[in-house]
Amino acid sequence: TWTTGSVIEEQVEAIRAQVGDKRAICGLSGGVDSAVAAALVQKAIGSQLTCVYVDHGLMRKGETEQVEKDFVAATGANLKVVDASERFLTALAGVSDPETKRKIIGREFIRVFEQAQLEILQEDGPEVAFLVQGTLYPDVVESGGGTGTANIKSHHNVGGLPDDIEFELVEPLRKLFKDEVRMVGAELGLPDEIVQRQPFPGPGLGIRIVGEVTKDRLDLLREADAIAREELTAAGLDREIWQCPVVLLADVRSVGVQGDGRTYGHPIVLRPVSSEDAMTADWTRMPYDVLAKISTRITNEVADVNRVVLDVTSKPPGTIEWE
Ligand code: XMP
Repeated sequence: TWTTGSVIEEQVEAIRAQVGDKRAICGLSGGVDSAVAAALVQKAIGSQLTCVYVDHGLMRKGETEQVEKDFVAATGANLKVVDASERFLTALAGVSDPETKRKIIGREFIRVFEQAQLEILQEDGPEVAFLVQGTLYPDVVESGGGTGTANIKSHHNVGGLPDDIEFELVEPLRKLFKDEVRMVGAELGLPDEIVQRQPFPGPGLGIRIVGEVTKDRLDLLREADAIAREELTAAGLDREIWQCPVVLLADVRSVGVQGDGRTYGHPIVLRPVSSEDAMTADWTRMPYDVLAKISTRITNEVADVNRVVLDVTSKPPGTIEWE
């Protein structure tokens, strides 16, 4: 019979057999799958694993710290954090088009990650031959099966390394569904904040600012998003709501009145959705009192925001994210 204990035991053995005395690298995204895959591999091979986390500066409040502190505390993993927020902000300067933003973020991410991999390859120690990925069973089915290898092509002038390094993939979650991955993660001691995390897009808050992405706008949105998440959790709605993007309409202003005078600030959009798989979704009929609390807090606590609006569009026709 299936138990998290038996899955962990079986995978730990399989990973040890596969990796032997070589080394492995794992990219952490802050998401559930990569965190659980890394924790499993860490349990199996310990210091032969190095995790890499690219901080693109587009994460929500506290998320980078969760990886830096909580993940490391729970697993004891070697973690290399690359603070690349300046680099991403520079690359995103002046860009408002959603697809262009996604391309830039994806491209910069790969460059920074590859650079980190190259640095690890140059460290003393056994050969780095493996790349850990948090592929789940549904991903395996969707892509038609086969396990594979990954190439890393150097775009950098790093002396003494081959142009093209091939990694063998370690995919310890290939037989598992999302809920099973969460159980395994909990059993491995990962905190709820990581294991029960709702879906969050790779490009992060970069695609939740409608308009140009700047440091100030990111800080503003991080505050608004943190308030919404805090109140949704306090109301016990985390399981009921699939995810709730909080979006800043950075190019829109409207007139308001706050304190002694008129304001001309930005709207924040709440986009709570209910869904099974994110392919379709409906807007969540959330309790009015929770909406009221979020609205009051955001307009009181976040400077430059004077209006909170609710997105009542299903998917289709709307996507879950605004960009
Ligand atoms: P949409 O907006 O297409 O989103 O209805 C569907 C689901 O996918 C997430 N999403 C992304 N996840 N990289 C990701 O890893 C992305 O670029 C990306 N875009 C959207 C979104 O949050 C939702 O769960």
